[in-house]
Amino acid sequence: MARLAVLASGAGSNFQALVETLKAQRDGDMPHHQCVLLVHDRKDALVADRARRLGVPSVWLGYQGRSRDEVEAGLDGLLRAASVDLVALAGFMRMLGPFFVGAWRARLVNIHPSILPAWPGSHAIERAFASGEEIFGASAHFVDEGMDSGPLIAHDEFRKKSGESLEELEARVHALEHRLYPRVVLDLLDAIETAGR
Ligand code: GAR
Repeated sequence: MARLAVLASGAGSNFQALVETLKAQRDGDMPHHQCVLLVHDRKDALVADRARRLGVPSVWLGYQGRSRDEVEAGLDGLLRAASVDLVALAGFMRMLGPFFVGAWRARLVNIHPSILPAWPGSHAIERAFASGEEIFGASAHFVDEGMDSGPLIAHDEFRKKSGESLEELEARVHALEHRLYPRVVLDLLDAIETAGR
């Protein structure tokens, strides 16, 4: 069994898709892989309520009044204490620094709602829509020191329908993320387990 941790800031729909997918993969009574920890950087983020409902332990990571290095050293310690094998960012809206990225590089992934390298950063769907983009999608990638950059693992895409609203497009992109990201994360957890953690 390999152990996943998720870092998130917001609503947590991708977190929930990941947890539910892992729970559905069972060896008899036991989940095959497990999400052992949610870390959120906004104290009242909705994702923390989801973690409670799903029975996943969660920790609030307060950045206020502390340097990024200090916060990330604490985060690194937390993840190691929980014997985490893979860290998935799911709407974690902060840049991670060179110390943390260097320590977790091959075991740190992200989901982004565009076909990278197009539209990195926040509000990607909204900005793409406003510019008249026709093709939408999502990308899963390893994380490096840049903004939504790093080696691509997989992406999926679709063409905007004529007259489709921003809200409809956002719903379709999110539904696509909820299929793509759990698939990618499961494959990585399988590979980690096969390699002997
Ligand atoms: C998702 O669309 C995710 O791809 C995006 O934030 C949203 C979080 O939604 N991430 C980024 O834009 C990263 N640059 P969720 O909290 O419901 O999973």
